[in-house]
Order: sequence, then C-alpha cells, then structure tokens
Amino acid sequence: MSQIFLDSANLQEIEEALGWGVLSGLTTNPSLMSKEEEPFEFLVKKICSLMGENPVSVEVLDTKAEGMVEEARHLAAQAPNVVIKIPMGVEGLKAVSRLNRKEEKIPCNVTLVFSVNQALLAAHAGAAYVSPFIGRLDDIGWDGVALVKEIVEVFSRQKITETKIIAASIRHPRHVHEVAAAGAHIATVPFRVLKQMAGHPLTDMGLERFLSDWGRARQEEGIRP
Ligand code: E4P
Repeated sequence: MSQIFLDSANLQEIEEALGWGVLSGLTTNPSLMSKEEEPFEFLVKKICSLMGENPVSVEVLDTKAEGMVEEARHLAAQAPNVVIKIPMGVEGLKAVSRLNRKEEKIPCNVTLVFSVNQALLAAHAGAAYVSPFIGRLDDIGWDGVALVKEIVEVFSRQKITETKIIAASIRHPRHVHEVAAAGAHIATVPFRVLKQMAGHPLTDMGLERFLSDWGRARQEEGIRP
C-alpha cells in the first residue's frame, strides 16, 4: 500500500494530521522550516517526537560532501527517526554513499530529483528514499506524474528494492491518486492538499440530506430530534 507522509514543519498542522491516523512519515525542507518561529533544533526534536517511530526527513544546508556528512551526523543524533535529506548532485551522492557505509548507516532521502538517471544514481549511492518533485516539473510544462511512473518501472525492472520512491512537490489531490496508481511507495502531501483529499461536495450534501431526512421523520413522529 502506498503511504502518506505530511510535507510540513508546522506543529499545529502536524498534530492535527496525526490525529487523523493516516500518516506514515513526514518531510521538511529549508523553506518550510524557515516559516516557523521555533528554533531549528527544538523544531526537529519536537517533530520527531510527535511522529513517534515514523521517519522525519530533515535537509542539510551545506553544499559540500564533507559538510553534509558532518551536518547529517549532528542531525541524526537529535532523534532516532531522523532521515537526512540530501540534495541531488555529485556532492550529495558522495555524502549519501559515505553515510550509507555499514558502520554508520544513516538513512538518506535524496531530494530535488527531476530525472530517472538522478533517481538511479541516488539508489546506487545507497539512498533509502528518492524524492522526484512532480509539481515543479508540471510548473515548467513537463509531466511530473510521468516521471514517477518511469522511475517506478525502471526500479522494478532493475530490482531496486532498497530505495523507496517519495512523490514530492504535490500540488493537488489528483497528483496523490495518480502517483499511487503509478506505484510510488509514498506521496508527501502538504496539509492543504490532505484536507482536500478528505472532502467532497457530494459527501457534504449527502450528509446534510441524511440528517435533515432523519430530523423530519422524527418530527413527524412527534419525537424531538
Ligand atoms: C519534499 O520533500 C519537499 O519538501 C516538497 O514536496 C517541495 O514541494 P514544493 O515544490 O511545493 O516546494
């Protein structure tokens, strides 16, 4: 079954969404973290504790492999469920392969993936997750869902099973069901889209009619609803 992660660093959103019982993990990024008032490390620890054993992706800010590895070690020490988000690129690949060595084994999520080849390299470097950004591809007139389908097919043919595909940069509910149908392991969804997924105008209208029919019948029987 494909999983739902929340794409957020907002504590209120996280607590609310956790209450729905649908989340299997969470992703953040520097843009999302920068919107929050809490200090960075406090936020990382708090989010990780709210998420229990579920994975929480936190992104490094250094752009060189050495610095990424140092930052990753520091972040990984904050909580047992931290996954290190590493931007795609040569420096990122070096960092992922180093963090994946068996004496360390810090799980990485390679982010900002826009092609099958980038996803393949990330998998070969030992990434636990790859994150193709589908909304940003759609924004420039490409087809983000098609990329997810291709990665799913290539990983399946190549028997790549250790790297999970997270469909990221989700813009609307249709993206979520399309990437699930395409076979993505995970969709990381902003809270706004998660709320849209739960609703439907016919559900609201249907409930309104059920309740008013029931109320009318009770009144006709002379019983207070
Ligand atoms: C995923 O891990 C990213 O945080 C996120 O999905 C980016 O989405 P955006 O394109 O809406 O910024």
